[in-house]
Amino acid sequence: MSARVAVLASGSGSNLQALLDDTEVGPHIVLVLSDVPGAGALDRARLAGVPAEVADRAGFASRAEFDDAILARLRAAEADTVLLAGFMRILGPQIVRAFPNRILNVHPSLLPAFPGAHAVREALAWGAKVTGCTVHLVDEQVDHGPAVLQEPIEILEGDDEDSLHTRIKEAEHRLFPRAAGWLVAGRLVVEGRSVRVLRVGAAR
Ligand code: GRF
Repeated sequence: MSARVAVLASGSGSNLQALLDDTEVGPHIVLVLSDVPGAGALDRARLAGVPAEVADRAGFASRAEFDDAILARLRAAEADTVLLAGFMRILGPQIVRAFPNRILNVHPSLLPAFPGAHAVREALAWGAKVTGCTVHLVDEQVDHGPAVLQEPIEILEGDDEDSLHTRIKEAEHRLFPRAAGWLVAGRLVVEGRSVRVLRVGAAR
């Protein structure tokens, strides 16, 4: 069965672009959904000919109604895989439970260091010498599920948030499509916090 992938994104969408451009992942993307009406990610989706939809949190009375709307869009698109490409909202438990081990997130630090929305700024403020990026499966806790791929990035003298985030994103654009390709191909085996990647053609 061919995977049907929904990408959720709030920002410029450079990670979405890397996913769209990936030959293993791009053809499976059936929906791009953003919580930010003017997000660059929506333009990138439209340019690629992928349906682009908005679920603006301000249009919903409660977080639960917002989550219900997102879940309804995912179901309407018949998505079986969800990629969080810079989605700056926390997914409610009913969404996480609807896609067990089928939601992947990219985060700009080496988790469990610096979870949350300001990971790059906090790594600099802490005086860390190394940070990086993590691609991980999503569970019901924020920035917590098992890691699929991580890559360290050295923090250089004179780095500011922009320069550091730019180098982290370069790594994200390689790691996220690679991990997403494995998920799409059904090659990830999850046992507790350990994630294995099956060789192509290997039996489970
Ligand atoms: C990325 O750094 C991602 O790790 C974080 O948000 C950023 C999104 O950037 N969660 P972009 O919109 O993909 O350029």
